[in-house]
Amino acid sequence: MTRPIRTAVFPVAGLGTRFLPATKAMPKEMLTVVDRPVIQLAVDEAREAGIEHFVFVTGRNKGVIEDHFDKQYELESTLRRRGKSAELDLLEQDLPGAGQTSFTRQQEPLGLGHAVWCARKLVGGEPFALLLPDMVMHAKPGCLRQMMDVYEARGGGNVIAVEEVPWEHVHRYGVVGAKDWKGNAFAIDQMVEKPKREAAPSNLIISGRYILQPEIFAEIERQEAGAGGEIQITDAMIRLMARDRFWGVKYEGTTYDCGDKVGFLSANVAFALERDDLSDSFREALKKILATHGGL
Ligand code: G1P
Repeated sequence: MTRPIRTAVFPVAGLGTRFLPATKAMPKEMLTVVDRPVIQLAVDEAREAGIEHFVFVTGRNKGVIEDHFDKQYELESTLRRRGKSAELDLLEQDLPGAGQTSFTRQQEPLGLGHAVWCARKLVGGEPFALLLPDMVMHAKPGCLRQMMDVYEARGGGNVIAVEEVPWEHVHRYGVVGAKDWKGNAFAIDQMVEKPKREAAPSNLIISGRYILQPEIFAEIERQEAGAGGEIQITDAMIRLMARDRFWGVKYEGTTYDCGDKVGFLSANVAFALERDDLSDSFREALKKILATHGGL
């Protein structure tokens, strides 16, 4: 029987220098796609996939994230007094249950692998999901749900969501080699972090969602700094690959890299165009903007 995935880890310690000055005093994970913070979208995706414990690896100046996942009594009592029940329901729905969130800090920016390792005591000895919140997945069912299906169908192991990118972009990502395709899933036989185009085994990149077995923590611990002088999660996965199975899922949906300005703006347009309450009026507004800015 496969061991269930109940815990998700969200590394949120990054400085967000690409979005200064917006992120001078506010965590980049609180930037909004329409009206939902990027971190909320990742939590929504995890909840949809059945996650019950949400572990945030934060850093200094990230306290607002903890407040966001707490009750806000003053706001709620004001809304109640004003009879704003739809807004109250919304706040209620978005909130993980009591005791379902945990926070720890990455004290130094030593890399993604190190951030994940900081969560080891909170994760304990169970397999867990890892979601990089900058990567916003627009998918139905959600990306992590699609990965859980593969995890169950393949009888456990580790699972990584991948997507195809143009070859000239592979050097920005972790890249996997694929064999034994079954539907949208395959066995991973190679992995490399930020390869040169010539050295990349494919143009399937690691897109920011993982299901990992807890043995990954021991691999991270034994590890030296890798690409960019950072402790990389990919290097730990390469070592774990020697004794455990890794599956890739080419999930159905679109990824928006909200750590990048164009990705972030695109996510806002795509999510707004899908909203019943906004799509018509936003489409009109977009047409006007495009007309005054030289069309498409
Ligand atoms: C990290 C991972 C990389 C992955 C990427 C997705 O890199 O190390 O394997 O492809 O996230 O966004 P980073 O973006 O932190 O450089």
